[in-house]
Amino acid sequence: MLRTVVCVSGGGTNLQAVIDGVRNGVITNTEIVGVISNKKDAYALERAKKYQIASRCISPRDYADREAFHRGMMEALDAFAPDLIVLAGFLVVLPEAMIQKYRNRIINIHPSLIPSFCGKGFYGLKVHEAELEKGVRVVGATVHFVDEGTDTGPIILQKAVNVEQGDTPETLQRRVMEEAEWKILPQAIDMIANGRVKVEDGKVILDE
Ligand code: GAR
Repeated sequence: MLRTVVCVSGGGTNLQAVIDGVRNGVITNTEIVGVISNKKDAYALERAKKYQIASRCISPRDYADREAFHRGMMEALDAFAPDLIVLAGFLVVLPEAMIQKYRNRIINIHPSLIPSFCGKGFYGLKVHEAELEKGVRVVGATVHFVDEGTDTGPIILQKAVNVEQGDTPETLQRRVMEEAEWKILPQAIDMIANGRVKVEDGKVILDE
């Protein structure tokens, strides 16, 4: 069983997709052992509670400085002894020590087709605002391993979604979630749990 911890900051619809995936068999060999949020009022924590998944809130506000916050985050994570850490709308820059310790065991869902509309400042609705501003016709989502950069790690899965006439950032965000994020995140976890994802020379090799 792949011991999986999901890190969240907000609504947690991607967390829900992972919970549903484990329950309905889309994701196999996987146990969600914990949820970590940096925000006390994240609705994702309610979702964890509903399914009796252990959760912890590690908020920077409860720590004297960034270093202490990072130590707190590491301790909380280590306590779950995870095989895989899933960043599902987790809007915290990870400490380097954590990236090194869990190299190729941390994945992130990003709401664009990387390398477009990613990197510093591109998160959540801002991504879709920028896409509409640019006038692109095709958008999508990416699941990738986390390395020291922002949205630069090896890409595992991507799925494209069409922009439609009259889209607002909100309608586009919803379609990208429904058609791409909630599908490729569970799919990537299942592939990892079943040994079908390898990293070689900084690139992902899929056993499909
Ligand atoms: C999702 O769209 C996710 O892709 C995005 O935040 C949203 C969280 O929603 N993540 C990023 O932008 C990371 N750069 P959720 O809490 O409902 O899953």
